[in-house]
Amino acid sequence: MINQINVGVIGTGWCGGIRANACADNPLVDKLFIAETNSNRLKELKNSLNIEMATENWQELVNNKNIDTIIISATPETTHYPMALAALKAGKNVFLEKPIATTLKEAEELIDVSIKNNVKFTIGYSQRFNAKYAYVNKTLKENLIGEPVTCLVSRHITRELGEKISGRTALSPAAMEATHDLDFLLWCLQPRKPVKVYSQTSGKLFSKNSNTPDHQWIMVTLDDGMTITIGAGWILPLGYPNFSNTWIEVIGTDGSLFIDDTHKDVQLSTVKDGIRYPMSSMPGEPVNHTHAGPMHEETMHFINAVALNKPVLVKPEEAKTVMELYMAADLSAENGEPVLLPRNN
Ligand SMILES: NC(=O)c1ccc[n+]([C@@H]2O[C@H](COP(=O)([O-])OP(=O)(O)OC[C@H]3O[C@@H](n4cnc5c(N)ncnc54)[C@H](O)[C@@H]3O)[C@@H](O)[C@H]2O)c1
Repeated sequence: MINQINVGVIGTGWCGGIRANACADNPLVDKLFIAETNSNRLKELKNSLNIEMATENWQELVNNKNIDTIIISATPETTHYPMALAALKAGKNVFLEKPIATTLKEAEELIDVSIKNNVKFTIGYSQRFNAKYAYVNKTLKENLIGEPVTCLVSRHITRELGEKISGRTALSPAAMEATHDLDFLLWCLQPRKPVKVYSQTSGKLFSKNSNTPDHQWIMVTLDDGMTITIGAGWILPLGYPNFSNTWIEVIGTDGSLFIDDTHKDVQLSTVKDGIRYPMSSMPGEPVNHTHAGPMHEETMHFINAVALNKPVLVKPEEAKTVMELYMAADLSAENGEPVLLPRNN
């Protein structure tokens, strides 16, 4: 006999909308609750999904004894810690969009409370649920290309999204964008650990109005001597709103793997709008009865993990390691010098 679960989604904008839709599609979800401060968006979801209760006050979901699981997809990112802490303290299973928190101390506290209350706690590193990325993991785990020597992930997203992200927070491209690729490579290369990071930023566009760089390179040495290099930029011109363009190289002693995740395989050309690349965002989108991109699958995985009591793929401790790494990268970019890891203070 399988127990259904009741899920509350806090913040139902772009990502929270995909999460709420995935929950509505999952037969393991009995009742769906949402909290959203934008009243128009709240109305829109109430009209399109079968929702048990919709509120503008997220605390109502956390205090509701009928809800066992909370998905937190609100912005700005400073909302993540107080919402996650309250939900975990109330004994809810929690799915939290990245970043896990804004300080390491907050991240540690969230992990401690989740362990103490014996609940599932995971972070939204969606790219692990992209089949191309999972293939890199599989190739390395099966030793198909021998010992990895170096890996590169270079990602660019459009300036529309760059403006949206940098407009709401002072977090760097390392913290907000490269975080996905740091998580992805550290996951693929486990149990190796980062021991040194060097990072540089450059900016000529966003820097006219703020301290936000346009691009960040991060080079990391792992404890077996191999290197990983990650580039994160957010000023591409608009190919299609939220277009993302990623290139992956994995070089090993016995082979190599190249992944084209530039999203140019589906090209829509119209007289009115010119060339566009649908289905090219990082989280993906619903397409009729199917779903492009990893976020739908990732949400299903979490629901299944809670309802069937299975482990979550992304451990919160891993998210904390990623946070330590991008904070060290930001320090390196600021000082212009490599930073050794782990940092003791
Ligand atoms: N995994 C991925 O691929 C991916 C992609 C984009 C964004 N993200 C992460 O997901 C999170 C959400 O990003 P987004 O682009 O969906 O943002 P968004 O701005 O589109 O949506 C956030 C929503 O939260 C609502 N909100 C704000 N404060 C609230 C509150 N106190 N209570 C309830 N609702 C509240 C807003 O009204 C908005 O609708 C971010 O933290 C971001 O880092 C992840």
